[in-house]
Amino acid sequence: MAVTALAQNRQETTLTEGWLFSQDQQTWQNVCVPHDWAIAGPFDKKWDLQKVRIEQNGEKEATEKSGRSGALPWIGEGHYKRNIQIPAGCKHAELMFDGAMAEPTVYLNGQKAGYWAYGYNTFRIDITPLMKAGDNLLEVHLKNVEESSRWYPGAGIYRPVKLIITGDDRIDPWKTFIRTTRLSSSQAVVDVTVGTGSPLDAHQGFEIEVRDAKGKLVGHEHCSEISNSGEANLSFTIQEPHPWSPETPYLYTAHIKYMQNGQLLDEVKQKFGIRTVKVSKEGGFQLNGITRKIKGVCLHHDLGPLGAAVNKAALIRQIKTMKDMGCDAIRTSHNMPSQMQMDICDSLGMMVMAESFDMWLYPKCKNGYARFFEDWWKKDIENLILANRNHPSIIMWSIGNEIPEQGSAQGKEISENLQNACHSLDPTRPVTQGLDHAEASIKSGVATTMDVPGFNYRVHKYQNSIGQLPQGFLLGSETASTVSSRGVYKFPVEVTDNSQYASWAPSYDPQAILKADGQCSSYDLEYCSWSNLPDDDWVWQDDKDWVIGEFVWTGYDYLGEPTPYDEYWPSRSSYFGICDLAGLPKDRYWLYRSRWNKDEHTIHLLPHWTWGLSKKDKGNRIGKMTPVYCYTDYPTGELFVNGKSQGKISKNPAERLDRYRLRWNNVKYEPGEIKVVVYDAQGNKAGEQTVKTAGKPAALKLEAWTQNSPLLKPNGDDLAFITVSLTDADGTLIPQADDQLTFEVTGAGSFEAVCNGDATSLESFKAPTMKLFNGQLVVVVRSSKEAGTLTLKVTDEKLKLSKSIDIAVQ
Ligand code: GAL
Repeated sequence: MAVTALAQNRQETTLTEGWLFSQDQQTWQNVCVPHDWAIAGPFDKKWDLQKVRIEQNGEKEATEKSGRSGALPWIGEGHYKRNIQIPAGCKHAELMFDGAMAEPTVYLNGQKAGYWAYGYNTFRIDITPLMKAGDNLLEVHLKNVEESSRWYPGAGIYRPVKLIITGDDRIDPWKTFIRTTRLSSSQAVVDVTVGTGSPLDAHQGFEIEVRDAKGKLVGHEHCSEISNSGEANLSFTIQEPHPWSPETPYLYTAHIKYMQNGQLLDEVKQKFGIRTVKVSKEGGFQLNGITRKIKGVCLHHDLGPLGAAVNKAALIRQIKTMKDMGCDAIRTSHNMPSQMQMDICDSLGMMVMAESFDMWLYPKCKNGYARFFEDWWKKDIENLILANRNHPSIIMWSIGNEIPEQGSAQGKEISENLQNACHSLDPTRPVTQGLDHAEASIKSGVATTMDVPGFNYRVHKYQNSIGQLPQGFLLGSETASTVSSRGVYKFPVEVTDNSQYASWAPSYDPQAILKADGQCSSYDLEYCSWSNLPDDDWVWQDDKDWVIGEFVWTGYDYLGEPTPYDEYWPSRSSYFGICDLAGLPKDRYWLYRSRWNKDEHTIHLLPHWTWGLSKKDKGNRIGKMTPVYCYTDYPTGELFVNGKSQGKISKNPAERLDRYRLRWNNVKYEPGEIKVVVYDAQGNKAGEQTVKTAGKPAALKLEAWTQNSPLLKPNGDDLAFITVSLTDADGTLIPQADDQLTFEVTGAGSFEAVCNGDATSLESFKAPTMKLFNGQLVVVVRSSKEAGTLTLKVTDEKLKLSKSIDIAVQ
């Protein structure tokens, strides 16, 4: 949570503009930070071609892998520079980087000011000794080495940088720790620790005001009992508190004043939430004393076509879309989150498992974090926790993901050291890690000594594990890894692991080679050798009290790790997402929504019903078996094809695929329409949905998403996401359309990026043209700094169609 400056002698400036960037230190370009130098591409197999054996995937031999880290040019060096202004008489200045990829070395006026090894962590650099009044040259040097990541890490100063100027007597925000120690419906006790960089003298002290969301004063304390290290502890009793939860993300603000003889030396504002977190055998996971099962998703840090460069609007869109699905938690796999993302999770109501490492000493990829672990783990854990512990959204820390050492005595020792380090900086939150070897990690004592034993996949081992876990509960720290491509349906419809629809795949039916496309089917029946279907997880989540929740792999597709196409070019991004890389929901979104969203009903039919328009498909499904699924929270449904009933069926808890889905497996395709009528538990008709065969392509449909609908803010940083669909004259999607579109932005903004969610597309995200993927894509536009109207015009040359949308910037 950002601490905002108030007092005159504290100035915080986010260093957004005025940066020059170069990769060779010869040619420089103007950029804004956050910046990702690699996202514009071009995509090329050569950038991250590797001959490796992916041990986590159970591979026995090394093979050639392409696209593993996104096939984008992120490897190499990057240089940034700009001037910063230091006012005359300035006593103290520091830079706060929220992450820079990677190995940032920071120079001020030609002298080294600091370095941080891990590209994902927040770090602070005191530049007081090197600064001078007036202009100072700030330079940042970055280095990304090959085979240092299992996914696309991004490249550059991809998170904000702040310049913080203070007086000699200053509050240290990382020494501010606000936590709820007792909570009932009538009262909360909130303990606050505040600190300065140096001991206080006799006339100094702190004054804290606590204000509710409306600004009303609900607590006011003074403290002059200050420890030698400059820390003070205060306690507040707040009457009739508003607890923070995903459903009620209520935030208070502590105004912390550093005083001397009645004079204000420094002041910061710190937002916080009143909430408690507990895990126990009896109650499982409890937020504010209430047991709930975590309905979480894992998220990598990239934002699809924006790359790793963080953006508030893009993050809000991500979190809101997940919340609408009923998701209440994210896991920041497998690294430290951005402050911006945590602020958004606090204010929108999303619980967070904040993770730290994907490896410790043993390298999961040749040049990964294992190079640094020994020297850096303590500093990295410290910065993660000190920067983030006031975020109410964070409910647990994670010290690692699928760490190869989990089965050894050494692993146990490291695990304990990490967990203890977390406890000493933050005794209020439990610590977990994602374990992928249940037996070995139980035997070594790693699983049995974690606050929260987290297991990745392998649900069939849960039962055996629970008998050996003294904690009496376990978490599905990573689940599902079901794969699918938006709008792609493969026949025959089968449950398979590692299906590859590619001409070279040895097991693939030669008759089907023509359909080779590097995609996965959206019947949501395909997974990996180590993983499973959503339905398989839910059986455990629903039937066992001791399973405290899950984090699905993943909420969104991400750049890199194109499993099951790790060896197939041009696949360069994942298929695991519940939403695609453009942020558009796949069918699986509605499956999760049907079970997770308890406030709204879901009725979603699949597949599309237009199997005759595209040459690719040859129109050949007429008369062929084309199963129809309905994802709904209702227990019963009747399906009609052109008015003919295909039977009224109910969910069947005894069958793997019928407990959570309604399936009609023997439907023969005929053009027209499919309609489902759903019934509630009492047998009353509750709703219906119809999917029609599309006619000829006739129109482009443009739908804009903005964080402050319907407006963009004139701040140069606000983004609108416009979903473009090709439809027939009645508005029905042309579900296999791949027309090339072009985009033109005029008025108060600019074109930012485009993405169609096709994991095999090599079209640049940053060029204003792209093919539709299964009828849709998303264009991202950026507001200007001046108010006005932004117009996006989308053109389909082939069909001589164009359509514009105006968005007010004000
Ligand atoms: C897990 C791993 C993730 C991702 C996933 C794909 O084993 O923790 O990072 O690789 O597999 O299924």
